[in-house]
Amino acid sequence: MKMRSVGIIGTGKYVPERVLTNADLEKMVDTNDEWIVSRTGIRERHIAAPEQATSDLAYEAAVRALKSAGMTADQLELIIVATITPDTSFPSTACILQDKLGAKRAAAFDLSAACSGFVYSMATANGFIKTGMYKNALVIGVDTLSRITDYTDRNTCVLFGDGAGAVIVGEVPEGRGFLSFDLGAEGAGGELLKLAAGGSRLPASEETVKAKQHYIYMNGREVFKFAVRVMGSATEEVLRKAGKTKEDIDLFVPHQANIRIIQSAMQRLNLPEEKCVINVDKYANTSAASIPLALVEAAEDGRIKEGDTVLLVGFGGGLTWGASVLVW
Ligand code: UT7
Repeated sequence: MKMRSVGIIGTGKYVPERVLTNADLEKMVDTNDEWIVSRTGIRERHIAAPEQATSDLAYEAAVRALKSAGMTADQLELIIVATITPDTSFPSTACILQDKLGAKRAAAFDLSAACSGFVYSMATANGFIKTGMYKNALVIGVDTLSRITDYTDRNTCVLFGDGAGAVIVGEVPEGRGFLSFDLGAEGAGGELLKLAAGGSRLPASEETVKAKQHYIYMNGREVFKFAVRVMGSATEEVLRKAGKTKEDIDLFVPHQANIRIIQSAMQRLNLPEEKCVINVDKYANTSAASIPLALVEAAEDGRIKEGDTVLLVGFGGGLTWGASVLVW
């Protein structure tokens, strides 16, 4: 049986209006622009307004993606929201979004794979569409990390921002679309990057609030090492599965956590930085939104042209990683 080709048929992105600069952070914690730029490459990040929750950011990106695909919400058959900062534990952010969009026919669920969530979600949508269960899917990477960031902790608060990136996944002409995926997890490293409380292990209590266990905890150095390692190995594996070489790739879209991680990975792979999308300076690490924000921005800027071969690669909490090769 011939498998249908599945790919991206619409894109949209959204970042909240408010910009938090390194200079602003200098007034909040003992840090400075020089440290942040030289250690991370980050200059500013966008922060959601108090009344904005994750589904609101997702909605803005989704509306744009639908428009770019020339579709209406009632045509959607599936909605997958990749996030670790859902509006509520339940209902899922995907269900809240389904209602906001009026996507009455769509099945909807959230997917939790932290910064790898967008690639995991595209792989999931790809599977559903390839098998013929659904014709299309709205896939969104979205996070409001500012809600789980401790703005008195300089080790983490300089690193994160809020945003949303959305794509419509559907059938594409033969030879286009997704060529391969490589997803993976190393659950043993879960303790290196986590939000400890608020789940069934440690329900919210006065003590958990006092102990600041509702904020992101991260062992930055260990995550850094993991990131560089899996960015290299996942890239090699996903290329092998696609039957491509590094030289075939027109554009790399890596997870935007830290410019040094991206540079180390590119050096390790012996690839020039010009082939790489970098926007960590403007948005910081937006978790699940990071890869779609970079991908959509590159597409909107005309940096990705029809027929280009693009490689996406990310890593994050779990620990997890996800990579994909696709023809635009
Ligand atoms: O999406 C996946 C999630 N996360 C990541 O990808 C992050 C991966 N890790 C990283 O990006 C880096 O490890 C960081 C940016 C988090 C930290 O960079 P580093 O080069 O590993 O620095 P470090 O943690 O080794 O800290 C170096 C020094 C420390 O001071 P001492 O102990 O050497 O005196 C920190 O206290 O820098 C200090 N420091 C800061 N100084 C000024 C840490 N944060 C700051 C800050 N401003 N914001």
